[in-house]
Amino acid sequence: MLGRLNHVAIAVPDLAAARAQYQTILGAEVTEPQALPEHGVTVVFIKLPNTKIELLEPLGEGSPIAAFLAKNPSGGMHHVCYEVDDILTARDHLKREGARVLGDGEPKIGAHDKPVLFLHPKDFNGTLIELEQA
Ligand code: CO
Repeated sequence: MLGRLNHVAIAVPDLAAARAQYQTILGAEVTEPQALPEHGVTVVFIKLPNTKIELLEPLGEGSPIAAFLAKNPSGGMHHVCYEVDDILTARDHLKREGARVLGDGEPKIGAHDKPVLFLHPKDFNGTLIELEQA
């Protein structure tokens, strides 16, 4: 069911500083910040030859990453994103297998204008999983 690793996401307390660090110290290609109000985050992508790194900063009240950053004030690895061919088929399969889909269970449009879903980290070895329809 799983396809490519689309990205690994890192929650950061200061997106501009983290972006500059990847650009200047690590010499990586970085995108411009993109606000995603529906997800409560602002994101930047680091483009690597084989995958991407997503840097996440809280946006607005009740951001889903605010609690994570309160526990991890210097930032930390937040989720991994795997590609799937059909997100609704993947969701229905996972629900039948007993996995919990976060939110109302309906895909939202993610940073790449494609449908995404998140799976409960307690069901996957403490790792928050994002699925993106490729
Ligand atoms: Co992501």
